[in-house]
Amino acid sequence: MSKKAIAPLALTVVLAALLAGCVKHGHYAPGASATPAAGAADQALEARVEEMMLTSFKATGIASLDRQVRDEVQKACSSPVQPDAETMRRLEEGQMATIQWPSNGDFTGGDWKEGARIAISGRGLTWTDASPDNNGGGCYNCHAMDPGEVSAGTIGPSLVGYARLRGNSEEIVRYTWGKLWNAKAYNACSNMPRNGYGKILTETQIRHLMAYLFDPASPVNK
Ligand code: HEC
Repeated sequence: MSKKAIAPLALTVVLAALLAGCVKHGHYAPGASATPAAGAADQALEARVEEMMLTSFKATGIASLDRQVRDEVQKACSSPVQPDAETMRRLEEGQMATIQWPSNGDFTGGDWKEGARIAISGRGLTWTDASPDNNGGGCYNCHAMDPGEVSAGTIGPSLVGYARLRGNSEEIVRYTWGKLWNAKAYNACSNMPRNGYGKILTETQIRHLMAYLFDPASPVNK
């Protein structure tokens, strides 16, 4: 076996041990295991896994190592047992508080053509990017939007006919802005990236996406 294969193998062994630990305790709840000794052992193992993850990568360009650090929501949602309803509610409340509503109080003013460009672009955030300003939303990786676009993912629901089907009440407009800014405010364990909160997209870019979803002239609503 080559030397290179050893690191991933070691990680696999540690992860397997971690999972075996979970099975032994019947459920995964760090710090709340059946015995205090087992809880400490789980935590020590988890700390070692995190350390190994941190030392396995190096910061390059704009890709700094803070990307390795999971926040409270990511930790809860990547645990083998999903958070209970009360935890979900608390996490969502915290995420809701991070949403920045339009600075001028107005959700309109975007250009759907710009929105289309952002929705289809999957680039940005890679270490070679000089600045994050050229980021795209990668929306088509998960959603169908313009029915004329043949390549669309299905991880998220189809957004074809978004405003045509849902209208443009204040409630739906506000919800959509919030969802684009921080999807986890509405479903803590959502797979959708937190575009505004995560500084993937700017306020102006989110405004263009709003136009793409709501403008009657947008192909999404044809
Ligand atoms: C990695 C997959 C993924 C990407 C990328 C993604 N989404 Fe989503 N999106 C989802 C999922 C999954 C849902 C369903 C609700 C949930 O679990 O959050 C969703 C829900 C939504 C909703 C609410 C739909 C409803 O019926 O309530 C909107 C609007 C939306 N996404 C727009 C976008 C836009 C615009 C982009 C690009 C900036 C985008 N999404 C990128 C996965 C994704």
